Amino acid sequence: MDKKIKEKFDTLTRHNKEALQGGGAKRIEQQHAKGKLTARERVELLLDEGSFEELGKGVTHRSKDFGLDKEHFLGDGVITGYGTINGRLVYIFSQDFTVLGGSLSETHAEKIVKIMELAMKNGAPVIGLNDSGGARIQEGVVSLGGYADIFYRNVLASGVVPQISAILGPCAGGAVYSPAMTDFIFMVENTSFMFVTGPNVVKTVTHENVTAEELGGASTHSTKSGVTHFACANEAECISQIKTLLSYIPQNCEDEAPRWPYTSGDEKRIQLNNIVPANPNQPYDMREVIQGIVDENTFFEIHKNFAENIVVGFARLAGRSIGIVGNQPASLAGVLDIHSSVKGARFVRFCDSFNIPLLVLEDVPGFLPGTDQEWNAIITNGAKLLYAFSEATVPRVTVITRKAYGGAYDVMNSKHIGADLNYAWPTAEIAVMGAKGAAEIIFKKEISEAKNPEAKLIEKVDEYTAKFANPYIAASRGFIDEVIFPEQTREKLIRAFQMLENKVAVLPKKKHGNIPL
Ligand code: HXC
Repeated sequence: MDKKIKEKFDTLTRHNKEALQGGGAKRIEQQHAKGKLTARERVELLLDEGSFEELGKGVTHRSKDFGLDKEHFLGDGVITGYGTINGRLVYIFSQDFTVLGGSLSETHAEKIVKIMELAMKNGAPVIGLNDSGGARIQEGVVSLGGYADIFYRNVLASGVVPQISAILGPCAGGAVYSPAMTDFIFMVENTSFMFVTGPNVVKTVTHENVTAEELGGASTHSTKSGVTHFACANEAECISQIKTLLSYIPQNCEDEAPRWPYTSGDEKRIQLNNIVPANPNQPYDMREVIQGIVDENTFFEIHKNFAENIVVGFARLAGRSIGIVGNQPASLAGVLDIHSSVKGARFVRFCDSFNIPLLVLEDVPGFLPGTDQEWNAIITNGAKLLYAFSEATVPRVTVITRKAYGGAYDVMNSKHIGADLNYAWPTAEIAVMGAKGAAEIIFKKEISEAKNPEAKLIEKVDEYTAKFANPYIAASRGFIDEVIFPEQTREKLIRAFQMLENKVAVLPKKKHGNIPL
């Protein structure tokens, strides 16, 4: 965690506790006792000091039913406004769980909609700090309408300005569907939960006994469902991570991500020469390749613990933000399956929406076989990744480090689907399938009729390997622009992305495409 954030966090919580008396202090104590900050502390921690301008502080709820006529809370359970993060404008809302469980009333929704519309008009990100029991039950349909008003703005804003959600408490019902439509979700271990229906309803309907943490905690959603992109140890860490994420992305779809100062130097990276093992069946960590290519310590991984057979994240290359998609040979041999395809596709579409060039690092033995994958629609889900790459118009460069087999060769940003430049390391193997499988099929008769079938198989595997387990046929066709040594990769990529900086690619005129959802 950023040291400055930690210091600010300690001072803030102490001051807020000291400053408030009576009911206010009690509510703050309740939040702190659960390991949570208050809605206002979160805003103060996230924004640059003194930059927050609050809007709608005087708003109160309209409903009079079920005792709501007795007490009114200024702001109606949500703090909304704008401010800056590292000098860049953002719009923010922060729900206050101490006011009717942060539940969403008609007026609470109106406040959120107001800042979403301002964000769209003025081209700046929206950050939602969610801590809410969902639709305010006492208000009935007007609170449902309020959620729908927010969902609609989530969709209108999608691809226009980045939308970021932090889940900082037990969020249920509508309180999870709006974040689900935003670009990135952050959760906090042990204090935040996301579910459409909570453990009690689950027990009644399905008779399953499940805790809130098991059903919808940060570790569940960051590993099993993939609903959250980040699981943070505590709220201060979560806020620090949101700031880091923002440093890689632009303010809106017409903007470019901030550039870091960069002075060119010796870009040769000899450590890259020793990462891919001599044995093609041995794993290695694609993160090592990434670290070797990008500017030092700039790789910011997204969805780290979900679908680990693909690695996605932002980094800087010569000071410029790029999005990286890499197969991960260290997990399931880097195979593409349903989850990794969806994870990759979603990331590619974010980068393309917000002008972030894409680098693909490829080592993929193909798609994962099996009934589980087929019955759960690997066809449709794998097609999402293919579609996302094909549709992307940002600069796109691929480096094949080892295997590029079968349909996965096409899908992983091949030149045939619009990549601008494709490089391959000498270790690259580009073929329809692995040599053994291929030999068993195309030389089936010859092998079975041989005096020594085993020796024949080895001979045919060697023959196939010699022909296809290299990048040179693809290079002779121009499908690979250059076979490069690993140590040259950083330099080649810096030049490639500089060359592609003013790329203009226009898709055929259409209302919108129909991605296989
Ligand atoms: C009104 C609510 C509320 C709600 C909580 N509260 N949720 N008030 N509307 N939706 C109030 C409680 O009455 C309580 O008030 C206070 O907030 C704190 O709640 P607790 O239950 O004591 O807290 P906790 O034990 O931490 O449990 C949190 C919770 C639980 C898991 C969120 O409150 C819960 O299950 N709430 C209901 C969730 C839900 O079903 N929401 C509607 C979903 S439908 P007091 O006065 O006692 O302090 C929906 C529609 C949109 O959202 C769907 C779109 C697709």
